[in-house]
Amino acid sequence: MNEQKVVEIKNLVKNYGTSGFCTTVLKGIDLEIQRNDFIAIMGPSGSGKTTLLNILSTIDKPTQGRVMLDGVDITKVSNRDLSKIRRDKIGFIFQDYNLLDTMTLQDNIALPLSLNGASGRECIQKSEALAQMFGLKGHLRKFPYQLSGGQKQRGAACRALITNPEIIFADEPTGALDSRSSKELLECLKMVNDNGQATILMVTHDAFSASYAKDVYILSDGQIQCRLSKGKDRREFYDKIIDMQASMGGDFA
Ligand SMILES: Nc1ncnc2c1ncn2[C@@H]1O[C@H](COP(=O)(O)OP(=O)(O)OP(=O)(O)O)[C@@H](O)[C@H]1O
Ligand SMILES: [Mg+2]
Repeated sequence: MNEQKVVEIKNLVKNYGTSGFCTTVLKGIDLEIQRNDFIAIMGPSGSGKTTLLNILSTIDKPTQGRVMLDGVDITKVSNRDLSKIRRDKIGFIFQDYNLLDTMTLQDNIALPLSLNGASGRECIQKSEALAQMFGLKGHLRKFPYQLSGGQKQRGAACRALITNPEIIFADEPTGALDSRSSKELLECLKMVNDNGQATILMVTHDAFSASYAKDVYILSDGQIQCRLSKGKDRREFYDKIIDMQASMGGDFA
């Protein structure tokens, strides 16, 4: 496999339910993600965005198809190997942050690294470097209840990045944030993508968030309907995404 290819999906089908009450949510998806891509997936509610992300992040299994992650077909590996893949190759950012309330921000950020057996010194150095980039340096000793939503989500992004994963999956990362905090988070994600530190796949309803990606894919009726590419200007890209949403009509969430 081309070593620039982080993800390769071929003919991915996902059914829910049993025969008689079976719904096909994903109807044969093909998708490639190259190293250092920043892709946003948009689509109507119920179109299968989270289902696709859950399959890619090894939380759910496809009904049919091939899902290669960094050269390994994750539909064919044991549960034990899957947890290693999750630990080493994937970073997650969830809509509701998922920080542990009883740990400081610094311990939350460093957690995946310390679970991997890294030294205390490495945990401190890497969490401080990321916190600096994400504007959190003065907040490392605080507990989640002492932080704003935006600070918590930027902390969650640092936690996703600390092990240098192959890819970051983010499901509606700005869904719980106000517009200013969303912008701060997106600027940080764009920065780590621009400087070659992260390949990102983000699901979002929001055209503003999507305009920070390099490419937007529209998922609808179980298939990827189209792809929009940014070019140079984020504002022009935002207008392009809004036009596309308008052309899809009320179907679009
Ligand atoms: N575990 C499950 N069992 C049965 N049906 C499911 C399951 N998970 C999801 N579905 C169905 O699959 C479809 C796609 O769901 P999914 O959560 O992927 O949509 P989505 O695009 O993420 O929507 P939203 O924008 O609202 O988050 C929905 O119709 C949903 O009801
Ligand atoms: Mg969803």
